[in-house]
Amino acid sequence: MFPADLFPLALGTAPFGTAIGRDTAFAILDAFLALGGNLIDTAAVYGMGASEQTIGDWLKDRRARDKITVATKGCHPSIPDWQQRLTEQDVRADLEASLRNLQTDYIDVYFLHRDDPSKPVEDIMPMLHKLVCEGKVQHLGASNWTVERIEQANDFAKKNGMTEFCVSQIFWNGARINKQGVYDQTLVVMDEEQHAGYAKNSMPVMAYTAQAQGLFSQIRDKGYERLSESMVRTYLNETTKARAARILQLSGMTGVSPTALSLAYLLYDRDVTAYPILGISRLERLQEALQIFTLDQNDLAPLFE
Ligand SMILES: NC(=O)c1ccc[n+]([C@@H]2O[C@H](COP(=O)([O-])OP(=O)(O)OC[C@H]3O[C@@H](n4cnc5c(N)ncnc54)[C@H](OP(=O)(O)O)[C@@H]3O)[C@@H](O)[C@H]2O)c1
Repeated sequence: MFPADLFPLALGTAPFGTAIGRDTAFAILDAFLALGGNLIDTAAVYGMGASEQTIGDWLKDRRARDKITVATKGCHPSIPDWQQRLTEQDVRADLEASLRNLQTDYIDVYFLHRDDPSKPVEDIMPMLHKLVCEGKVQHLGASNWTVERIEQANDFAKKNGMTEFCVSQIFWNGARINKQGVYDQTLVVMDEEQHAGYAKNSMPVMAYTAQAQGLFSQIRDKGYERLSESMVRTYLNETTKARAARILQLSGMTGVSPTALSLAYLLYDRDVTAYPILGISRLERLQEALQIFTLDQNDLAPLFE
């Protein structure tokens, strides 16, 4: 089971220790903890370990290890040649590096960063189960796996008394994402098929790029004409525009930022439990995102009409 009693928003930390320096990262982590946050997402590949090291230093300095659920990910394909690395040797090497970087002897939620669909789940789940049995990992997650492959993996694990995946990471936000326009085609997008799968199996998801990189605030501030080419390619379509109209109208009435309002599509999804992961580069953005909790579900109803 995915840990209970988690704050509904997770903190993403991919640029910590690289684009975001240690002092700013520590200030964001302090504020997140003070506001009730307890789920932090990182990965072995982020900054070649710099993100995990920053979090590890902060956890130690603040004596916060037992207050935080740490989610990290391993076995990202090699960069830049994108060779698959989903072998026992690679899983163990990445996990040991993560434990060292995070200065901990266990990971709360350990994700495989990508799937290798050419590899049978019968080869993957036993090696993950061993990590749980050794006490190095408490829960397993699948990042950028289709719901169909997750179910195959979990069916096999269940039948063989092994640990199942209890959470997924998927590309999901308030926009309708144009799959063909996504910058990396190995990312798995929340579409109708994926959504129906999670609604059926009740698995919670940690949604990444959950603020759509500020798309809805940028539509308000700059208009459609001045959005970047990648924003247009990834997000613009009739559904996104219809949602933007509702978001901007409600933002005008409530003063809550469009980016914060767009999180409602995940937080109040009727069928799937979502923990949006926020990419936060400065403290104001964290305060801004949390404005969503100043409104109740009745206030947010116009977004779902
Ligand atoms: N599992 C995976 O494969 C995977 C993939 C991607 C990400 N992730 C995780 O998800 C985390 C978040 O990803 P993300 O950074 O792509 O998500 P995000 O939260 O959608 O995007 C963050 C970006 O949105 C911009 N933004 C936020 N509010 C804004 C506003 N009001 N106006 C204008 N811009 C605004 C920020 O700009 P400023 O910098 O100007 O504030 C920031 O650059 C990562 O750190 C990582 O932990 C996981």
